[in-house]
Amino acid sequence: MREKNPDLEKGHSRRRFFELLGGGFLTASSWPLARRAFGHNGLPQEKEQVPPIPSAAGAVDPADTKFWLFVREQFPITKNNNLIYMNNGTMGPSPYYIQWMFFSKEQEVNFTGTYGGHDVARAKVAEFINCREKEVSLTHNVTEGIDIIAQGLKLKRGDEVIITNHEHAGNAIPWYTRARRDRVVIKVAPLGQDAAQTLASVERAITKKTKVIAIPHMTCTNGQILPVKEIIELAHRKRILVMLDGAHPPGMFKVDVRELGCDFYAACGHKFLLGPKGTGFLYVKEELFDRVEPIMTGGGSDSGWDYKRGLHGWDKTAHRYDYGTQSLALYYGMMACFDFINGIGLDNITRRDKTLATKLLEGLKDIPQVEILTPLEEKSRCALTGFRLKNMPYDQFQNWLMEKYRIRIRGVGEGGLNSLRVTTHIYNTFEEVDLLLEAIREAARK
Ligand SMILES: Cc1ncc(COP(=O)(O)O)c(C=O)c1O
Repeated sequence: MREKNPDLEKGHSRRRFFELLGGGFLTASSWPLARRAFGHNGLPQEKEQVPPIPSAAGAVDPADTKFWLFVREQFPITKNNNLIYMNNGTMGPSPYYIQWMFFSKEQEVNFTGTYGGHDVARAKVAEFINCREKEVSLTHNVTEGIDIIAQGLKLKRGDEVIITNHEHAGNAIPWYTRARRDRVVIKVAPLGQDAAQTLASVERAITKKTKVIAIPHMTCTNGQILPVKEIIELAHRKRILVMLDGAHPPGMFKVDVRELGCDFYAACGHKFLLGPKGTGFLYVKEELFDRVEPIMTGGGSDSGWDYKRGLHGWDKTAHRYDYGTQSLALYYGMMACFDFINGIGLDNITRRDKTLATKLLEGLKDIPQVEILTPLEEKSRCALTGFRLKNMPYDQFQNWLMEKYRIRIRGVGEGGLNSLRVTTHIYNTFEEVDLLLEAIREAARK
């Protein structure tokens, strides 16, 4: 369902487009913050100006049009008539509520001159992924979390690290960097078509020298959910550590690091959590603090220092891996994500995401030139769908789709895959999926 935009009809599309895309939305009339009065602390005075969090009392039908349209209404990106956004896997656009929290906190800092207090985000993250507060380091993206482990874990020359053949650069480059520096060996395990095949492939890559398995929880290429619990159990039986690249799952489905049993989990706030760009967190199992040397350090990482003794040691918590001035606004924005998601209900989000993606997958099955790359197995897929068009290179299709249909998806050039990735999240509609399928059918006939 696309809302009519009077500006566009009057021919002001360019100005409106930039208002919606950029900082211009602070002046857009739909933005509640712009009209509000400031209180003594820089916060809004009138309660009703806080954008709403959709709230569900229990299970919501993934096809409940009224509820999901209300959710959709909360996202400025859905008011942009120049765009149908299906690339949440790259960047999750924030709803008004999360943006409001982010901007309010930034204004508060600039109004009051005090900027501390973001540390409370550790407890919120811990609650969301089920770990202890002291096991959370606050980072700025997934890559930073992965780098903390890849560069800091005590490894020696000849030790082996297993990755897959479907990595994002954010998991591949940190480990290859470590390999260059310390002659650690990177082994690549190809993904299978389903969970059992992938588990077997990882098992085959293990040798006596394997020290770490560093793999995505869900791949960025074809949206495959890896059988991580089984891989972790296998690894731990052989005293191998497991680091999960969790770029996508948080906010899409439940991530319980304790239940998974992983040793490290790196995630970000700016994909399915729909949070401020440049937020992230890293889970480090407490028992492993001594095995991961902090590499980038500063104020906050230490347990004390002086000019005589130098550095006394590290902070007792995973705070040892982060340091210096942090942004109150960013981390309050990230905390707002948890409230937004919990308001809707994570299970409701999972079902809606998967239902949209399943509709797409079912439609793709009937298009002759399409090769589906996402596993059809239920437990191995959710909101990311990968496919290839046999008659058109991925970049050509991606550009054509944007030009003709204004639909943004992501081309996947990684590893020569020449494929496409569609992400459907809570603000997308079944009508948008239908339109995308129509476009793919048209391209397949070319
Ligand atoms: C699976 C995966 N890992 C890592 C990253 C890198 O994330 P970030 O840009 O937050 O560092 C991405 C980004 O798309 C990703 O999809």
